[in-house]
Amino acid sequence: METFPILFIAFLSIGCCILSNNIVNATHFGITRHYKFDIKLQNVTRLCHTKSIVTVNGQFPGPRIVAREGDRLIIKVVNHVQNNISIHWHGIRQLRSGWADGPAYITQCPIQTGQTYVYNFTIVGQRGTLWWHAHISWLRSTLYGPIIILPKRGVPYPFPHPYKEVPLIFGEWWNADPEAVIAQALQTGGGPNVSDAYTINGLPGPLYNCSAKDTFKLNVKPGKTYLLRLINAALNDELFFSIANHTLTIVDVDAVYVKPFEADTIIITPGQTTNVLLKTKTNHPNANFLMMARPYVTGNGTFDNSTVAGILEYHYPKPSPSIKKLPLFKPELPALRDTSFVTNFTNKLKSLANSQFPANVPKHVDKNFFFTVGLGTNPCPKNQTCQGPSNTTMFAAAVNNISFVMPSKALLQAHFLHQSQNVYTTDFPSSPLIPFNYTGTPPNNTMVIDGTKVVVLPYNTSVELVLQDTSILGAESHPLHLHGFNFYVVGQGFGNFDPKKDPAKYNLVDPVERNTIGVPAGGWVAIRFLADNPGVWFMHCHLEVHTSWGLKMAWIVEDGKLPNQKLPPPPSDLPKC
Ligand code: C2O
Repeated sequence: METFPILFIAFLSIGCCILSNNIVNATHFGITRHYKFDIKLQNVTRLCHTKSIVTVNGQFPGPRIVAREGDRLIIKVVNHVQNNISIHWHGIRQLRSGWADGPAYITQCPIQTGQTYVYNFTIVGQRGTLWWHAHISWLRSTLYGPIIILPKRGVPYPFPHPYKEVPLIFGEWWNADPEAVIAQALQTGGGPNVSDAYTINGLPGPLYNCSAKDTFKLNVKPGKTYLLRLINAALNDELFFSIANHTLTIVDVDAVYVKPFEADTIIITPGQTTNVLLKTKTNHPNANFLMMARPYVTGNGTFDNSTVAGILEYHYPKPSPSIKKLPLFKPELPALRDTSFVTNFTNKLKSLANSQFPANVPKHVDKNFFFTVGLGTNPCPKNQTCQGPSNTTMFAAAVNNISFVMPSKALLQAHFLHQSQNVYTTDFPSSPLIPFNYTGTPPNNTMVIDGTKVVVLPYNTSVELVLQDTSILGAESHPLHLHGFNFYVVGQGFGNFDPKKDPAKYNLVDPVERNTIGVPAGGWVAIRFLADNPGVWFMHCHLEVHTSWGLKMAWIVEDGKLPNQKLPPPPSDLPKC
């Protein structure tokens, strides 16, 4: 601890030099990179509200992690705040390093005040953009940051080398304390208050009151290619994003290359990342350009109907014209509920599927699962009036009508020690117990079943999972995130999944590979993955309100027979509950 300041400077200098391609330590086996995350309070002002927020190292958004494919990351997290903390490395496969995955009460007990936990994992077979965030309650509203994974040294991108790379991380800003917002919602059974602004790199931009000075500006030169690393870290909103008068080329999603395609606007759900190339105009345009993001809306709930804007500014040689006098162009974003835009966009995402980057889609399936995802209700406690869909009910959400109850001990420890009793049961249903017309008139009984249930998979099971949205309390798009794996999105459609007809239309050649997928509102999506990673893996809606309501479950992948197919024992500093 005491030697830390010196070490930290060394670590910073590693971080700072990677993007400028100055790594001294050249080895294709990857290097070890150390980071220290001090979780501490920091005063931050946005929209004229000053708040003390939970941060990493006092930074908001949090620090960037920069590494290359094949590198080992050692991140020491020290909790100096009153809240319990855990950090998740969203999208990192965590091959045989499940103890470092981070979701509280799933792979670890939270790091308590004054305690430390060292996350230790290696980046295998991934390059692109991922991100890290707190994985407990709603603390990720301020605890988040990019993970930039460069290709191995000397390995080029499969697209023109960008002149510069810029992470753009979308977030949500609350004037209130998000922890109080969700606590109140869970108490009353009603929908939580919505955020006050969206942000780009922590800045709401000029379309909000008292915010013009907090505007993200991207200063560019003409005739260059920029790689924008887009991350949606918002809590509850899928976002459309566009830059006026510029076209984006999508080249990578969730740290997997895709076949490049052009679009004026992209859609990105919470949890997803998208790398895009931005070609600037060949000549100085004598204008400035807004980049804007605002929500794509599907459900019936209230939402933050505001727009974050940043400015794309061309850098002028001196004497430069006054920036203020230049015309400012605005992009045109799709309508709030433009589902056909979203369908059209997501249908364009395809794996590269070439010899260097093959799409290893499981061709045969060992085990089929059919999960409904959607909302439901729990009864209001006696002697209380609730603010759910009625005053006798509270909002809930569920997978196959099971609303996940957080255990009080971490599942992974219980599994590893063979002490599942009173922690979890292994009877998560592989299909709905009571089938119904999922996207038709909803059933009268909307009550969910509460429980901590998991699915157990033998090592190397080839899984097909169909995620079916329900119309209970309104059809809604749900960005489902699976920990520990990437999956292939082999099919999607609207209405109820038809097991006789729909599989014939699957794409098993070049489906997109990712870790978070939007289940279409009133539709379904089919994914496939190989359960080759022993451990306990969380799967949940990345709309934080739905996760809080129980739209989550876990998979246990058993050890394989060979030594390198087993989960190693936990590190000695694994936090205790
Ligand atoms: Cu990005 Cu389980 O989370």
